[in-house]
Amino acid sequence: MITWRQGLLGLVLLALAGLLLAWSGMIGIGASSGHWKITDLVLHWAMEQSVETAALTVEEPLELDEPWQIRRAAGHFEASCAFCHGSPLRGRPPLSDRMTPPPPPLDHSAEIWSPAELFVIVQQGVKFTGMPAWIAPKRADEVWAMVSFLRALPRMEAATYRDLAFGTDLPPEGESDPVLAYCARCHGSDGGTDDGAFPVIGGLPEAYLRDTLQAFANGTRQSGIMRFAAAGLTPDAIARVSAYYAGQRPPAPEPSERVAGLLAHGEKIATEGLPDERVPACQRCHGDQPGRNPAFPELDGQAAWYLEEQLHLFKAGSRGGGPYARLMAKVVPGLTPEDIEAVTAYYASLPAAPQAAATR
Ligand code: HEC
Ligand code: HEC
Ligand code: HEC
Repeated sequence: MITWRQGLLGLVLLALAGLLLAWSGMIGIGASSGHWKITDLVLHWAMEQSVETAALTVEEPLELDEPWQIRRAAGHFEASCAFCHGSPLRGRPPLSDRMTPPPPPLDHSAEIWSPAELFVIVQQGVKFTGMPAWIAPKRADEVWAMVSFLRALPRMEAATYRDLAFGTDLPPEGESDPVLAYCARCHGSDGGTDDGAFPVIGGLPEAYLRDTLQAFANGTRQSGIMRFAAAGLTPDAIARVSAYYAGQRPPAPEPSERVAGLLAHGEKIATEGLPDERVPACQRCHGDQPGRNPAFPELDGQAAWYLEEQLHLFKAGSRGGGPYARLMAKVVPGLTPEDIEAVTAYYASLPAAPQAAATR
């Protein structure tokens, strides 16, 4: 019969022996030889269990698999995932096979994992494997866009992938700025919304564009997609692309299909506010009256989903932004989800702001 003392001693000795082995330097940590089969099985099994459990509390959004969601994530996939996982265009990158574990090609992932499980993997990443977590953890909407993309990936032709990831509206001939060419993959040459996949940036005030890019780059404004795109831009590049997009005039997006009843309530919030709920008139800061701070963005003609998401982020305290973003913190507490739907439908239904047009 082994007493508990002997058992404990045995465990301590085993741990010491393990430490001694590691200290001797005899355990290979080189990626070149891969894992032992058993290590691989155990790690992957633990990962599957963990993902399944975490996915139990994840709720699927209504707008999964929409074309605009797929386009929203495609350029980011190309820039930040394809060099590990490959893509329909570049096949399997040579470095992948030399990683332990190797990043798998993702053409069957949507069959193996449910949408909620894909969400967990992409949002949280996977320890001990090199699979990174989403850069902005609170942007569940961005992660869902990526899940939509991953679900479309298995059936995607190389040509479709190229159009989605690199865009089709490139900067004009003679415009050879590589930074601008990168922005244009997603925002096009005129900063339009591209079927609602991206916010309109063409014609926004130059000062707002500069502040915003800076805020994305240093993480004071939360977006996994834009932080990746803006990180490492020099002040000079930020100034150049801000001046360029401030001078564009994209065509107005398609009018929103939302019920006309919303618009009247939305207009009232925009022009008069909701005094009982201590919500100020939005136009006080977002209108085009003389003397308005030029670093405040216009909202007219902006994509509705985008405005709505930004207001929910402000409400949750997780949007961040440029030097004046704290002003919005006082505006949002009194807005209900219905108010938000109405006021964003209203702004999305307006043609682009006249003030923006005047600066071009
Ligand atoms: C540095 C390399 C690397 C990058 C960059 C990377 N991944 Fe991964 N990814 C991995 C590795 C390694 C695994 C395998 C994890 C495992 O086996 O547990 C993985 C696993 C996955 C899986 C599960 C695949 C399956 O079929 O089991 C998905 C989905 C995934 N990654 C999506 C993404 C997305 C989306 C991005 C970009 C936002 C991304 N990855 C960026 C290395 C990477
Ligand atoms: C891979 C796609 C992609 C690339 C490349 C990209 N963007 Fe973006 N951009 C987005 C997405 C998606 C958003 C919406 C972010 C959000 O939901 O918070 C966005 C948002 C923005 C905004 C905020 C708009 C607002 O109304 O506040 C600005 C400004 C912007 N991008 C400018 C740029 C510039 C300039 C570049 C080039 C340096 C660039 N982007 C490159 C996808 C991209
Ligand atoms: C006191 C001034 C002020 C008032 C009033 C105000 N805003 Fe703002 N709002 C701002 C500023 C400043 C920003 C830019 C924050 C940043 O990104 O730096 C902003 C940003 C926003 C954005 C994000 C725009 C984008 O392109 O990303 C939305 C959406 C918005 N406001 C909606 C509203 C609505 C709706 C109302 C009325 C209910 C309102 N705001 C009232 C100052 C104000």
